[in-house]
Amino acid sequence: GKIILGDQILDRPDVHIDLEDRGYQFGDGVYEVIRVYGGKLFTMKEHIDRLFASAKKIKLDISMAPEQMQKLVEDLVKENKVDFGSVYMQVTRGAAPRTHMFPKPASNTKAVFTAYTNVVPRPASQLENGVEAITAEDIRWLRCDIKSLNLLPNVLAKQEAADAGCFEAILHRSGIVTEGSSSNAYIVKNGEVITHPADHLILNGITRQVLVKLCKENGIPFVEKEFELKDLQNADEVFITSTTSEVMPVIKVDGKTVGDGTPGKITRKLQELFEAKIN
Ligand code: PDD
Repeated sequence: GKIILGDQILDRPDVHIDLEDRGYQFGDGVYEVIRVYGGKLFTMKEHIDRLFASAKKIKLDISMAPEQMQKLVEDLVKENKVDFGSVYMQVTRGAAPRTHMFPKPASNTKAVFTAYTNVVPRPASQLENGVEAITAEDIRWLRCDIKSLNLLPNVLAKQEAADAGCFEAILHRSGIVTEGSSSNAYIVKNGEVITHPADHLILNGITRQVLVKLCKENGIPFVEKEFELKDLQNADEVFITSTTSEVMPVIKVDGKTVGDGTPGKITRKLQELFEAKIN
């Protein structure tokens, strides 16, 4: 398949990333994952806007217009004939002799934009049956609102989940549930959908933003407030959301059954509403 480097669409073997790219050495960059449904990029503008917002928060100048980036990525999806899949895109602060401080403007170091596509089906059986999760301490930094390349704590938490035969690790700071290692986390209690406020401790997921709208339009109470591990254990329903997982029911947390052990009613309703959005 083809990939994007800078403002060009190239064959993958023709693309070389420098050994001293700051993304590689420092995780000095930002990224996005966008879903492709039936050849169309879902909530693309929201993802590109968030990429630029993340870049701005780390003082990274992407030096490309969002409109040009959008066009390039749309062309890539067409060229690779992706029907159902995803696009991964990232921007790093570029290649320069390794030193922590930013490259000097005079060095003319440019941000490096790359993107490629994956063909992946929707996780149909997991969406139908639900998944299991563990809980883990949230050991990340205090700017989780930035979609940064530094994912080591997320990687460690996800591996802990995988080692336990689970799909996701739901993170908490001293008992306050923040989000999943690569998803947002929610409980349903007495008919209310409850999730952590979109502050600096979580990533404000695009799927989460879609959900806020769906809840509003359909009279489902959506409450952004802190909740605790014990609320997670006593929830009527638990689910997570992300670009790749959509609205994913969680039927067990730390080995303990949620509700009656099957995806809950409100979770099902939200899945239905989400499904209608992507078709
Ligand atoms: N992860 N929180 C974290 C820490 C995430 O990494 C993600 C997404 C989300 C959900 O965001 P969205 O709905 O915009 O996908 C929340 C992506 C999919 C990933 O890293 O693969």
